[in-house]
Amino acid sequence: MSTTKVPFIDLQAQYRSIRDEIRQALDRVIDSTSFILGEEVGRFERNFAKYLDAKYCVALNSGTSALHLALVALGIKEGDEVITTPHSFIAPAEAISYTGARPVFVDIDAESFNLDISRVRGAITQKTKAILPVHLYGQPVDMSGLMEVAGERGVPVVEDAAQAHGAECLISGAWNKVGAIGKIGCFSFYPTKNLGACGEGGAVVTDSLEIFEKVRMLRNHGQKDAQYHHPFVGYNYRMTAFQGAVLGVKLKRLNEWIEARRSRAALYDEELKDTPLKTPGTVEGTKGVYHQYVVRAKDREGLKRYLEERGIETGIYYPLPIPFQGAYRHMGYKKGDFPASETCARECLSLPIYPELAGKDIRYVCANIRDWVKSA
Ligand SMILES: Cc1ncc(COP(=O)(O)O)c(C=O)c1O
Repeated sequence: MSTTKVPFIDLQAQYRSIRDEIRQALDRVIDSTSFILGEEVGRFERNFAKYLDAKYCVALNSGTSALHLALVALGIKEGDEVITTPHSFIAPAEAISYTGARPVFVDIDAESFNLDISRVRGAITQKTKAILPVHLYGQPVDMSGLMEVAGERGVPVVEDAAQAHGAECLISGAWNKVGAIGKIGCFSFYPTKNLGACGEGGAVVTDSLEIFEKVRMLRNHGQKDAQYHHPFVGYNYRMTAFQGAVLGVKLKRLNEWIEARRSRAALYDEELKDTPLKTPGTVEGTKGVYHQYVVRAKDREGLKRYLEERGIETGIYYPLPIPFQGAYRHMGYKKGDFPASETCARECLSLPIYPELAGKDIRYVCANIRDWVKSA
């Protein structure tokens, strides 16, 4: 049995490469004793907005808070409907539920793992107050198509870009970063994300001054400038200064890390091209950032076990579509309602991918996959 170990993700490898800068940034915060929001967070907000080519950014304490405040800022409430995907982490559906609105799940396109735009049009009703697509695994949704459908009906789009910092879509001949295409973009900086904090973090991005001002107030107990004056009920969703400082250091490397992920994905594509596994395709008019490298295998459990026995960690994102989770069982969806999502939930397997992953490790993973194919 081989002694080679390939971890699913190695956050220490990234930390080692930027350790001194991170420690200096954390020291700056401690020396300033300004621990919440403040200059470090303000600087990060300006730089992240600039990176995305968006007008405004509001830094928050998580991606889930970002989704929640985006919907609250749009005035979404009980009795409303929000269209979203069944195949994702649960947070976007939860954010819809927090407002009292109903998540309306529309099946995905199994090739891209993302909302099937051709089905969205038919799901829009008088009650639809937003569409909430997720750029899953770092693969952008076809935003050009989605914005057209949403525009026809005047429905705002709230992008969940939690897994897709820096991914791009071609819109009317120009490349646009996801999160800065719809009315509001939401990001997570959970430590394992492509741009990850040293703790929880998130952000809302928008070109709308009205949404920006509303979200800034909502994150801070509904307060505007005058302290202890609260025109409406808000939340404590503020980003801590430590996270702003860390994200400032990491943002400078994001493009380099994205390129590293893309080159690793290209090596996987090459090594796996003659296997029956379905590798992630590229969708025309989009540039993904490979938060995950997801293959599909009919005997997913068998492949996972085989790789585990050979020291290779893999992940399953996500094994049960959101409408079938206990949290949403009351909605009465049944098996067969979301054929593409159900297939992906059964067959998806995420292989190790991170910017520092060595080519020899990818070759080792792929050699084992080819052996498994032969032995099956
Ligand atoms: C697609 C998606 N949306 C939202 C979130 C929520 O982000 P956070 O964990 O920062 O609350 C995540 C995080 O895992 C996610 O993957």
